[in-house]
Amino acid sequence: MSIKVAVLKEVGAGEKRVALTPDAAKKLLELGAEVSLVPTSGNQALFFDSDYLAVGAKVDDNYSDADVVIKVLPLSVEEVASIKPGAVTICTGQPAGFVDAIAELAKKGCSVFAMDLLPRISRAQSMDSLSSQASAAGYKAVLLAATRLSKFFPMLMTAAGTIPPAKVLVMGAGVAGLQAIATAKRLGAQVSAYDVRLAVKEEVQSLGAKFVELPLEAVEGQGGYAGDQSAEFQAKQQSLIADTVKVSDVVITTAAIPGRKAPILITKAMVEAMKPGSIVVDLAASTGGNCEITQDGEEVLLGGVTVIGASELPSMISTHASQLYAKNVVNFLTPMIKDGKLEMDLDDEVVSATCVVANGEVRHQPTRELLGL
Ligand SMILES: NC(=O)c1ccc[n+]([C@@H]2O[C@H](COP(=O)([O-])OP(=O)(O)OC[C@H]3O[C@@H](n4cnc5c(N)ncnc54)[C@H](O)[C@@H]3O)[C@@H](O)[C@H]2O)c1
Repeated sequence: MSIKVAVLKEVGAGEKRVALTPDAAKKLLELGAEVSLVPTSGNQALFFDSDYLAVGAKVDDNYSDADVVIKVLPLSVEEVASIKPGAVTICTGQPAGFVDAIAELAKKGCSVFAMDLLPRISRAQSMDSLSSQASAAGYKAVLLAATRLSKFFPMLMTAAGTIPPAKVLVMGAGVAGLQAIATAKRLGAQVSAYDVRLAVKEEVQSLGAKFVELPLEAVEGQGGYAGDQSAEFQAKQQSLIADTVKVSDVVITTAAIPGRKAPILITKAMVEAMKPGSIVVDLAASTGGNCEITQDGEEVLLGGVTVIGASELPSMISTHASQLYAKNVVNFLTPMIKDGKLEMDLDDEVVSATCVVANGEVRHQPTRELLGL
């Protein structure tokens, strides 16, 4: 008997991605798995039921016999109720964001993998959905700002006069920030970037942007991430970056600290000091926001400045974001499929770090604590 992999339909408001594309389904079929998809799951990413049927996948509402269940966003408690005991689930999200569903999955003896917990090591790069979706978000953030700004991005020298380039500031130069810098440069803007990690200075400069260096000593985090800075550091950082924010037409903020609330980089007073018509796109909106007045999923207008709490950007580029996520999932799943059967090697660093629950046992320590175990 080969393993059955089911793709669930995303039910989150506004979510247009799908966890598996027809090409990715084909890869799993070639490994000896059976693949089924809840009808119309791919429609909003422009992958249609007929495309899945054409590669040999099934289209079926019922996933109660699936051994592996794949989604983009976390499973809901209602979805868990329809899942077979002992099944394996794979989705994005920090476990704290779907702890109720995790508790139900554990009760059913299921195994739960959270793609957000994947270690940032070379071997796991092709599985790294945080990176693939952050790239999509960084790209789309700039396009969103460019369409909202009442100015050109590039410098224009016309018979009617010269237009200076738009000034774009990117705060946080991780995966999303670097993609935002590259996109803004391609559109011809004058781009500056800031990050607490000085290690990114060369990457920023190699993209043709100016690195804004502040005389501050930042705390380093683990695994190449930034650390949680003190309140005193944050206040000093805000005052030092204020002048650069003030003259920017567009600010894209992407600063995050894994598992923590996002640091406030832009205060309300800093927004008030910006020129009317300026745009802030806050990619950290879902974890509290980098701007003091950000509302997740909303736009706030203050003194003519628009602050966009952008939490659904990868979904706005649903075809390619789905394609990349599906590749990440297939690359993650492939080493676990042996002769058409699923074997979880919990001694493997990638499998172990990503596994929140193994056959009903909650093994992710922060989740254990949240569940009072
Ligand atoms: N597989 C791999 O090897 C791999 C894959 C992806 C990323 N990475 C690395 O992981 C690290 C984190 O990348 P990410 O994009 O996920 O980061 P992230 O989303 O956690 O944070 C985004 C950026 O915000 C910055 N930041 C945090 N606090 C800040 C503050 N107070 N002020 C200004 N900036 C602040 C961080 O330094 C980071 O560059 C990077 O070093 C990246 O190169 C490695």
